[in-house]
Amino acid sequence: MQKTRKVLVTGSLGQLGSEIRRLTEGNDNFVFTDCIEADGILSLDICDAEAVAACVAKNNVGTIINCAAYTNVEKAEDEPEICRRINCEGVAVLAEAALRSGASLIQISTDFVFDGAKGTPYLETDTPSPLSVYGRTKADAESIIIASGVKGVIIRTAWLYSPYGKNFVKTMLHLGSTLPSINVVNNQTGSPTYAADLADAILRIIPIAGGKMGDIYHYSNAGECSWYDFAREIMRQAGLSCEVNPVSSSEYPQKAIRPSYSYLDKTKITAELEIGVPQWQDSLQKCLQRLI
Ligand SMILES: NC(=O)c1ccc[n+]([C@@H]2O[C@H](COP(=O)([O-])OP(=O)(O)OC[C@H]3O[C@@H](n4cnc5c(N)ncnc54)[C@H](OP(=O)(O)O)[C@@H]3O)[C@@H](O)[C@H]2O)c1
Repeated sequence: MQKTRKVLVTGSLGQLGSEIRRLTEGNDNFVFTDCIEADGILSLDICDAEAVAACVAKNNVGTIINCAAYTNVEKAEDEPEICRRINCEGVAVLAEAALRSGASLIQISTDFVFDGAKGTPYLETDTPSPLSVYGRTKADAESIIIASGVKGVIIRTAWLYSPYGKNFVKTMLHLGSTLPSINVVNNQTGSPTYAADLADAILRIIPIAGGKMGDIYHYSNAGECSWYDFAREIMRQAGLSCEVNPVSSSEYPQKAIRPSYSYLDKTKITAELEIGVPQWQDSLQKCLQRLI
């Protein structure tokens, strides 16, 4: 009898990896790794080609879900080499290991591959034009995967939040319960993504990933909003009286330039893969139920 091939998850201690762990609890078919060893998580640096190849072979891996990344957009401007090493060289290592073993690769990419100039929802076929170091490394990772010929999919997502790690929702809850008012930018529009929704979508994609060749899909929650709209809805749902004032991003100079508009069109993933996309306000409510 043929042994079931396992699913290797990298970056398992991050937001998305943690949600995949939660949704697959008790399922022995998943091997969870991150750059440090932790409870139930093996140590695996995605830039270490030998270690990755050994892990894939030892565990008879059939699918790699790459949740590992350098995700600090601001810091990346100061350490582009480290960002590139993880987001590009690490991805090349995973693609090579997957190719050699016949496994498929599910890569997570970002709305920050776009410059925001389009002004209407971004399609999978729109040409990337990143504005930041982080965005460039993620766009280059997409090209590396496609050029490698590895089987699998690339899922672009945006504005991830969850009960894990650091994210906008947790920051707003903290500020909202300690300050009477805050300023939040209202000239960047996109779509938040509850990491649990994305994790669920990825689990549905695993069985079909082997039949794809670096196909790109967009997945974020439904409905456009600005960071200001998002902050106001967080305060409203959490019952916090903190006043949210709209401000322009020009009042908050940052090193990394972000797209002013990066809403992802999800028609392809819903039509082709029949994956549902919950409204962002509904998903926020689900996350807040776990946080408050
Ligand atoms: N967060 C967002 O708003 C957002 C938006 C769009 C797309 N994405 C993409 O979605 C994916 C998941 O994001 P996330 O928010 O879950 O990220 P995250 O919370 O930052 O988790 C990433 C994980 O990868 C680990 N890691 C870093 N370098 C590694 C290496 N060389 N080998 C193995 N593991 C390594 C990190 O460890 P350390 O913490 O120790 O570095 C961390 O545990 C990423 O591909 C990201 O680019 C995120």
